[in-house]
Amino acid sequence: MCGIFAYLNYNVPRSRKHILDTLVKGLQRLEYRGYDSAGVAVDGGNDKNWDNNSKVIQLIKKRGKVKALQDEIYKQDSLDFDIEFETHVGIAHTRWATHGEPNAVNSHPQRSDKNNEFVVIHNGIITNYKDLKKFLESKGYEFESETDTETIPKLLKYMYDNRESDEISLSTLVERVTQQLEGAFALVFKSVHFPGQVVGTRRGGPLLIGVQSKHKLSTDHIPVLYRCGKEKKAVSTLPRVDGDTCLYPIGEETGVEYYFASDASAIIEHTNRVIFLEDDDVAAVVDGRLSIHRIKRTAGDDPARAIQTLQMELQQIMKGSYSSFMQKEIFEQPESVVNTMRGRVNFDDFTVLLGGLKDHIREIRRCRRLIVIGCGTSYHAGVATRQILEELTELPVMVELSSDFLDRNTPVFRDDVCFFISQSGETADTLMALHYCKERGALTVGVTNTVGSSISRETDCGIHINAGPEVGVASTKAYTSQFVALVMFSLMMCDDRLSMQKRRQEIISALRTLPDLIKEVLALDDQINSLAHELYQQRSLLVMGRGFNYATCMEGALKIKEITYMHSEGILAGELKHGPLALVDKLMPVIMIIMKDPTHTKCQNALQQVVARKGRPILICEKNDDESKLLAYRTIELPHTVDCLQGVLTVIPLQLLSYHLAVLRGFDVDFPRNLAKSVTVE
Ligand code: F6R
Repeated sequence: MCGIFAYLNYNVPRSRKHILDTLVKGLQRLEYRGYDSAGVAVDGGNDKNWDNNSKVIQLIKKRGKVKALQDEIYKQDSLDFDIEFETHVGIAHTRWATHGEPNAVNSHPQRSDKNNEFVVIHNGIITNYKDLKKFLESKGYEFESETDTETIPKLLKYMYDNRESDEISLSTLVERVTQQLEGAFALVFKSVHFPGQVVGTRRGGPLLIGVQSKHKLSTDHIPVLYRCGKEKKAVSTLPRVDGDTCLYPIGEETGVEYYFASDASAIIEHTNRVIFLEDDDVAAVVDGRLSIHRIKRTAGDDPARAIQTLQMELQQIMKGSYSSFMQKEIFEQPESVVNTMRGRVNFDDFTVLLGGLKDHIREIRRCRRLIVIGCGTSYHAGVATRQILEELTELPVMVELSSDFLDRNTPVFRDDVCFFISQSGETADTLMALHYCKERGALTVGVTNTVGSSISRETDCGIHINAGPEVGVASTKAYTSQFVALVMFSLMMCDDRLSMQKRRQEIISALRTLPDLIKEVLALDDQINSLAHELYQQRSLLVMGRGFNYATCMEGALKIKEITYMHSEGILAGELKHGPLALVDKLMPVIMIIMKDPTHTKCQNALQQVVARKGRPILICEKNDDESKLLAYRTIELPHTVDCLQGVLTVIPLQLLSYHLAVLRGFDVDFPRNLAKSVTVE
């Protein structure tokens, strides 16, 4: 989806080249989210006095990759790249086309008028843009793009042109504009009328602010010494709340740099000190000072946002020696599942403690039903763990696709506990399902990989899966970590049940060996690559299984579809005779997952039926399953683990297969066509 990045340097002299390089680098860090055009807005003019240059805004926009934008930027003869700015605001954006095709005019920043008086970058969708456009056109404002976003800077200019006083601030204008907007958005503004200032706001889309200052950025009351001329002065960096506004006394005298972004990965190389904005916050930087204003302040609603420390390392979002992020993330799984379990599972006394749930566990145990909600891969993690959740909690468990759950107006009650599974924590449908369940009084639990994300903040409690940043659009390590997190939850739910202790111990022992078993499976990479060489020219691939491995079939088929563009279907083996068998002939490749669990015999029946139709099954099975192997055309042999964790192992060959198929078919593994990493629109 779209990406926002803005950079403000206040009393920190920076060359125009430095500023543009920072903006381009920020956009590169957001590339993984998926986009089809990109753009920047910086101060134009080449006057030695930066003040004069901020009266002109230069827009540079380009269809295609950020690299194409970068080339375009350095083609601009009118810009002196060496000129220095004491203070400057640059805004940048990657756009994923929704309204209007990907081209330079439709890409962001969008502008208020031909003189670029106000420019904006926007993530999300404005649903009432047609009405706004009609209104603005009736007032003589001319539109140039097909986007919904263009209404925003034009409305801002309308408010500015009709201001009651010259004292009006950019943040007040922005606040007035957002009050007219319907839909979901994160927005960042820049204007020639407010040089050196930036304003950002959000409703339903993530936005965070990184702060880089010589001040020690604490949110406690400890005064911090800083040098002012020859003197040392003491200041407190404690944010001061004044009515609906919180002021951060950062950088007043020493200079400061701010980074606004929709995603922490664009900020982390500059600073790990960040503020996550909430819906209806308007954050403004004026004279280097940050303030956050609440648009609709209700009682007990505190505008003070803590300055938090991001626990992310730059190398976590770099590819290293791998050819793609997806490949890196597949191979990270032995460590990422350990990180999911770290400090939570005690393998010696067989206990599991999820800190984020401990205050709510009694309430959860008393609930009437668990509803697990997610999209795509996150939904599959719910399907994969449903059986063990049902077994260990003895509760009815519904697993729901967020969009369908909302379409059906599913009945939800106060004594339901609703789980929201989301790697990004920002998926629009899942977020809306969360709002829906909250309104109905259910207890809400987030299972996310992104600290500070909307879902992690808006749920009553939750589990951070701690898989580390996932950059590849195809989700891999987040899936196995979501899986392990949900298994841990089911173990925690029954820790006081005597009758379940044996089963718990079996699963916890298996969790202990899981990372080594994942390594064993990853060691089959060459074998899977050679299978990919056999299959890559096929049009279609069926993946069949049942029980604990049905989710693997759906997840494997999704991976194949999204990055290889081959047709693939995950089929419940129990449904074979009810239709899918018609697809089986000697030409159709069928991958079958047969593990030694209670469904083994039934899976073997399915295998017989495939063989009887001259199908050539490729088996994912256990090492010692000689009986099944006899009927197989090809086998991928996996180590044994407890039934409810098999899915963690069986999905890995399919992740690897889809990766190799995509490479052989010549596709960009990390940037599959038409897809985005974080789907922040319905
Ligand atoms: C598939 C994939 C998507 C996401 C889905 C939900 O590889 O990545 O299907 O799983 O868009 O995203 P999150 O988990 O961020 O809510």
